[in-house]
Amino acid sequence: MTTHPPLPTIRPLLDPAPEYANWQSGEPIRRVAIWGDHTPWLITRYEDARTILADPRFSADANHPAFPHTRPGAPPQAPGLFHQMDPPDHTRLRRMLIPDFTFRRIEQLDGAIQRICDDLLDAMTAGGATEADLVASYALPLPTLAICELLGVPYKDRGFFRAKSSALTSVAGNPAEAMAARMALYGYLRALVERRVGDPADDLVSRLATERVATGEATPEEATGMISLLLLAGHETTANMFSLAVVALLENRAQLDALHADDSLWPSAVEELLRHLTVIHSGIRRIATEDVEVSGVRIGAGEGVIVALQAANRDPSAYPDPDVLDARRDASGHLAFGHGLHQCIGQSLARAELRLGLSTLFRTLPTLRLTASPDSLALSTSTVHGVQTLPVAWR
Ligand code: HEM
Repeated sequence: MTTHPPLPTIRPLLDPAPEYANWQSGEPIRRVAIWGDHTPWLITRYEDARTILADPRFSADANHPAFPHTRPGAPPQAPGLFHQMDPPDHTRLRRMLIPDFTFRRIEQLDGAIQRICDDLLDAMTAGGATEADLVASYALPLPTLAICELLGVPYKDRGFFRAKSSALTSVAGNPAEAMAARMALYGYLRALVERRVGDPADDLVSRLATERVATGEATPEEATGMISLLLLAGHETTANMFSLAVVALLENRAQLDALHADDSLWPSAVEELLRHLTVIHSGIRRIATEDVEVSGVRIGAGEGVIVALQAANRDPSAYPDPDVLDARRDASGHLAFGHGLHQCIGQSLARAELRLGLSTLFRTLPTLRLTASPDSLALSTSTVHGVQTLPVAWR
């Protein structure tokens, strides 16, 4: 019996697991062992990753019995969770949200995001404070406040939905707890949708309630699922990306100095940080619905595939000197937000939060420094790479 290497699950703070660089020059596509007897194909090269993510013969249907889930007993597909669906359901549901996430629409939120950044920094430095945990004071509240405002979910309930989110996304989580967390979150959001049908406000939950649920285009369960997906996807990813970006810049002083000297570099620096850090590191999971040949390897119908975005984004054939963080690099085309039909719907929002959040932080606190060694930071236990706390000081 052939034994396959395990899917790497441990990675250094700012880099992909070392196995990926070693594998890049070997077989183009290989099988890896995950849990049970699942041995999905692992995709590490940039071109293969794009090919697979754009190919409709690879399904995102998480209900397929052989789907390579991140852990055994992952909660099944549920109404509204369109990231785990294929067309036509995926298209029908995603289309309802597009107007709220266009670049132009998100651009109009710049002022609100800037206010959030300024208020959070005022609170963090209030009373002459000179140190803080940047995750709790800035990196997490920034995207949480922004997504709550966009959706119309009360920010005061963040303790509740953060706890449910952790139970749902923890890699080592217990299936019964994950299911209970999902039910509690759905109950809470369903009640919010129902309130907004009769008493709408200027927010996305109200728009879904009045324009889609009340008209019968979406069921209340679908609206609830979509809101829960946006709420969960909309804060942890950006928060983790934010904290790691701060560490990466503090560890690469020349890059930070370049940004201090030229503010206009921030948009390209954000793209490069997204490429370099690639926080969605449990891989994009798919299942082949037909036999497909990729780079000379036959992937059989019913076989699982894991696209390792963090490896593809460090593929030297796509990005020369891929391990170097270079704010001036043209990192466009990176895969940190995925590719194809399921490419991140929140990417304009995430970019705005990162650009405004990072530039405001470093402009306001130019002496910002870490007060713990990067190696000592506790890593996140979820499917999104990040740190649990980030002790910093200024002055
Ligand atoms: C999808 C990454 C922020 C909502 C994705 C995917 C990736 C990703 C890689 C593709 C998943 C797949 O193909 O299966 C990120 C990163 C973020 C971020 C790195 C921050 C730095 C956000 C935000 C929101 C959001 C702020 C919400 C406002 C979604 C949703 C999907 C998605 C709903 C599913 C799209 C679909 O299946 O059509 N994201 N995301 N994400 N993201 Fe994001």
